[in-house]
Amino acid sequence: MTHPGPKVQKLEEGRHAICTCGNTENAPFCDGSHKGTNRTPEIVDVDAAGMNLAWCTCRNSGNVPRCDGSHSQVRGGDTQFE
Ligand code: FES
Repeated sequence: MTHPGPKVQKLEEGRHAICTCGNTENAPFCDGSHKGTNRTPEIVDVDAAGMNLAWCTCRNSGNVPRCDGSHSQVRGGDTQFE
């Protein structure tokens, strides 16, 4: 069985800090838990139309925090975000 894939989150207008380290307790948003790692959040500015973010839950994406389809190659995967 492969990993279930990304989660889609609707981001409302405004500035958002998206977790790239996988340590947050408030995925997909940064909660400051990256301190002590070499990661920093990705800052995303969303306009009034909003934006759907398909964020990686398997931590195998080459484009974290976004899903790149790598979950299709993962059996079980690392589900730290779930
Ligand atoms: S908690 Fe993961 S980047 Fe901030």
